[in-house]
Amino acid sequence: MADPRPIGVFDSGVGGLTVLREILRRLPAESTVYFGDNARAPYGVRPDDEVRAFSRESLDILAERNVKGIVVACNTSTAIALGDLRRRYDMPILGVIRPGAAAASLATRTRRVGVIATPATVRSHAYFAAIKDENPAVEVYEHATPAFVPMVEAGQLSGPDVEARVADSLAPLLGTRDGAGEFIFPLPHSARIDTLLLGCTHYPLLRPVIASVAGEGVAIVDSATATASALAELLSVNGLEAPAGHGAPAATHLQLTTGDVEAFAGLAARLFGESFPAIERVELQRVAS
Ligand code: DGL
Repeated sequence: MADPRPIGVFDSGVGGLTVLREILRRLPAESTVYFGDNARAPYGVRPDDEVRAFSRESLDILAERNVKGIVVACNTSTAIALGDLRRRYDMPILGVIRPGAAAASLATRTRRVGVIATPATVRSHAYFAAIKDENPAVEVYEHATPAFVPMVEAGQLSGPDVEARVADSLAPLLGTRDGAGEFIFPLPHSARIDTLLLGCTHYPLLRPVIASVAGEGVAIVDSATATASALAELLSVNGLEAPAGHGAPAATHLQLTTGDVEAFAGLAARLFGESFPAIERVELQRVAS
C-alpha cells in the first residue's frame, strides 16, 4: 500500500526547516506541508501551558490539511507537548528528542554527553530522560543557551562576535581555553563531554561555530538526520510511504506560516541559501503575542 498524502512538519518558526531539509534528502518521494508558528515564536522561553496550547492549535491546522502523519520538529514542543499531541490525533506523531537522544548515546565513547537547548527544553529534562533510557550509563549535562535562537533569527551565523557569544554560552559545559587554545580543566561546571547534542532546531545553523568552539575532541550531533531516518522507518512500518518510481506523482511542498510571508521567505533564504517558493500565511483563531 502507498499513501500519497503529505507529511506535516511543525515548528515554532523557521528553525524546523533544518529537519525538513533532512526529510527531503532522505525521502524525496514524500510530499510535505511545513507549518511555522512564526507569529508566536520563540516557544523556548514560554511557560509549559502556553507551549502545549500553541502546539495543539498549530497541529490542528496541519491535521486539517489531510496529512498522514506529523513530525514535531520543534524540540521545545516535543519536550513539553508530545504526549498531549499523541493523545489528540489519530495518526503517527514523531518528535525529535528520541531520535536525537539515540544518536547522541551511540556517538559518545566516554559516556559523557552535553545537551544544549532552549530554557523550556532544559527545564523539562526530556533529553536527560531519553538519553538515560537509551543508555543509563551515560552522564548527561543539560545546558540552556537562550542567546542562540535570537542570533540565528537575526541571520547572525558566523564572525568574531558570534564566535565570542557562542564560546561564552558554552563555557559552563566546555570550560574555557588557555592562551594556547587548550581547554582549562577542571572548572566548577565543566563536564568533560565528548559529545554535544544540538537540542534545538536553530542550532544546526550555528554548527560550524559550535564545532570550532568545542574543538575536535567533541562530536556534534543533531536530531535532524536521526529524525528523518526514524520517519522513514515509521512510514515503512505503517505502510504509509508515498508511491515512488515511474508514473508516480511528483512530490509537492508547501510552507505555512502564522507570521509574515515575506519575512519567512527572506529569513529562510538567508539561512538555508535556497528559496521556498510555496509559502502561504494562515490565520490562527487566537494569536497571542
Ligand atoms: N523550535 C524551537 C526548538 O527547537 C526553537 C525556537 C523557539 O524557541 O521557538 O526548541
